[in-house]
Amino acid sequence: MKVLVVGGTGYIGSHAVLELLKDDHEVVVLDNLSTGRKTSILEKVTFYYGDITKKEDLFNVFLEECKKKPFDVVMHFASKLLVGESMSMPSEYYQNNVEGVRLLLDTMREFNIKNIIFSSTAAVYGNPINGVCYEEDLLKPINPYGETKLVCENMIKWYSKAYDMHYVIFRYFNVAGADSSLEIGYNYNKKVITHLIPIVAETILNIRDKFTVFGDDYNTEDGTCIRDYIHVSDLAHAHLLGAKYIWDGNDSTIINLGSNNGYSVKEIIEAALKCGDVNYVIGERRAGDPDVLIASNQRAKDILHFETKYNIDDIITSEVAYRKKLG
Ligand code: UFG
Repeated sequence: MKVLVVGGTGYIGSHAVLELLKDDHEVVVLDNLSTGRKTSILEKVTFYYGDITKKEDLFNVFLEECKKKPFDVVMHFASKLLVGESMSMPSEYYQNNVEGVRLLLDTMREFNIKNIIFSSTAAVYGNPINGVCYEEDLLKPINPYGETKLVCENMIKWYSKAYDMHYVIFRYFNVAGADSSLEIGYNYNKKVITHLIPIVAETILNIRDKFTVFGDDYNTEDGTCIRDYIHVSDLAHAHLLGAKYIWDGNDSTIINLGSNNGYSVKEIIEAALKCGDVNYVIGERRAGDPDVLIASNQRAKDILHFETKYNIDDIITSEVAYRKKLG
């Protein structure tokens, strides 16, 4: 397959690129390098610097590449993805996540490219009553991030009906860890790191003295939020399976990507203690956080024959190893 990976230098996008390369596919990356960086894997891909919210940047990649050979599949990773940040700056989320996807879909139409793999999120479920999310559940996002992804899901569905496009929409749960080569991983260069597993890794490595657990009065057994953590390499592999699935002409679908296991923040701390000390304090709740999010992964198993290879210990260990390597 020839695959365009939009946002292919970022944390998840770069792992997806690696999976595609390992399986001998031709990869073109479009990225504005806002969170990603040019790593060694990019030497094997055709790279375009550009922004998904700029029509001319998108048009240029499609024009240059499709005259050689049209894309078989487009993968979209170029979004803003922080729940807390989206609560304070929704405008940026609508601009980048919604407008960017509309421009991408319209450019695909112009060049008659039919297949898209879209990164959505567990945040579309909102605050599910029993915590376990099934793809057919009612969707009621409780933060702008989830809302923008839901708008995109619906946009893709309508475009698909009207313009005969095909899609696999993946709803990610909590992605963490790093590829075993430790060549690519989480972006620690951000001004503020907000994700739990990288923060725990830095606490273990004494880069931080301690961290704050955001609230212990949630509706869970130990009072801290429960999430479903999935290793980034497992998630990336699912994208390869999804691309083959849609390229083979199968029906469009929406699939959760999680492990079907929930861990509270305190259980993550417990698991992390195997790697070293983890100092923490209990603080206030963070705005926009649901109590429990766990994936039903049955559809991923049934449709893509997808199984996770890595467990929570692998996720934490690889995150610590990657952070340690960065120094
Ligand atoms: N947490 C803390 N202290 C911290 C950081 C996080 O207690 O310093 C808690 C959060 O409150 C939450 C849990 O750890 O309960 C996980 O938080 P993350 O920030 O790591 O991840 P989120 O669950 O907020 O969001 C992530 C992605 C979203 C995705 C979601 C799906 O950023 O894109 O997982 O569950 F939608």
